[in-house]
Amino acid sequence: MKNKTTVIGAGNVGATVAQRLAEKELCDVVLIDIVEGIPQGKSLDLAEAAPIEKHDARLCGTNDYEASKDSDIIIITAGIARKPGMSRDDLISTNAKIMKGVTEQVTKLSPDAIIIIVSNPLDAMCHIAFDTSGFPKNRVIGMAGVLDSARFRAFISMELDVSVENIHALVLGGHGDTMVPLPRFSTVAGIPITELMPRDRIDSLIKRTRNGGAEIVGYLKTGSAYYAPASAAVEMAESILKDKKKILPCAAYLEGEYGINNLFIGVPVKLGANGIEEIIQIDLTSDEDEALKNSAKAVEKLVADLKKLE
Ligand code: APR
Repeated sequence: MKNKTTVIGAGNVGATVAQRLAEKELCDVVLIDIVEGIPQGKSLDLAEAAPIEKHDARLCGTNDYEASKDSDIIIITAGIARKPGMSRDDLISTNAKIMKGVTEQVTKLSPDAIIIIVSNPLDAMCHIAFDTSGFPKNRVIGMAGVLDSARFRAFISMELDVSVENIHALVLGGHGDTMVPLPRFSTVAGIPITELMPRDRIDSLIKRTRNGGAEIVGYLKTGSAYYAPASAAVEMAESILKDKKKILPCAAYLEGEYGINNLFIGVPVKLGANGIEEIIQIDLTSDEDEALKNSAKAVEKLVADLKKLE
């Protein structure tokens, strides 16, 4: 294949990302993990599925970063996942160390790559990758809004019994309890959901979306969601690799947009060959703006906690 993506962390999310990238024939995939045997075994297993799935993506699993050299995209999923009773923020001290080490190693070998962060707590991990890599802000992007919006879309589809393909939704803010689903910009065949559902139903779908990750952790008990997170990361990678210029909600480094400064937070961005090619600014109502600022405060607190860990 012409393009190469390195996926770091060959666990549930990382292996599913590798599978989807290969099966969509988007790029060759290098899968890296700290545990010996896991990336090798999973990538070989995926390569053996290729004749049946009919793709020619090359898969390589390794513990050695050398294989990642000159990647176009780096997707970081390394870290621990949460267990029942844990919030994403509880992962911060362990995952901060992992994120720093991984970013140092991988960016040395691929100085022109675009990084997509998946590890949690997402917005804080973006700050570490940004500071450690020294990459420009258009090349460090967090995966959260695509996932949160997909969850909202799935719940809208279940509620109205309509095709998911008809549904667009927009969720802004940090990837946590303060995320900001925006019903005004969430539509079914172009019709805002505010025209199709009473306010109390919308509120309950918003609540379920905010709790979407925890709902899955509650079922799985030993880990967190991975199919939808992997799909979301791959949609972002696809838009970059094919220069599709999709508008997707992603964690981006803001410098004044939405009145927020020096912070990664979820906003609509245009994703193309240069990573974040534009941050789309929409006028928010005062309630929406207040909810976004409230979410930004929660992310600021996490970033301050990171500084204390240093
Ligand atoms: N370098 C490379 N890989 C590492 C490192 C490291 N320093 N530390 C841990 N890993 C690997 C683990 O060995 C494991 O294979 O990261 C992988 C994580 O996989 P899982 O435990 O299955 O977790 P997963 O569900 O994939 O979630 C990963 O994504 O969605 C977020 O909150 C989630 O932070 C978590 C991350």
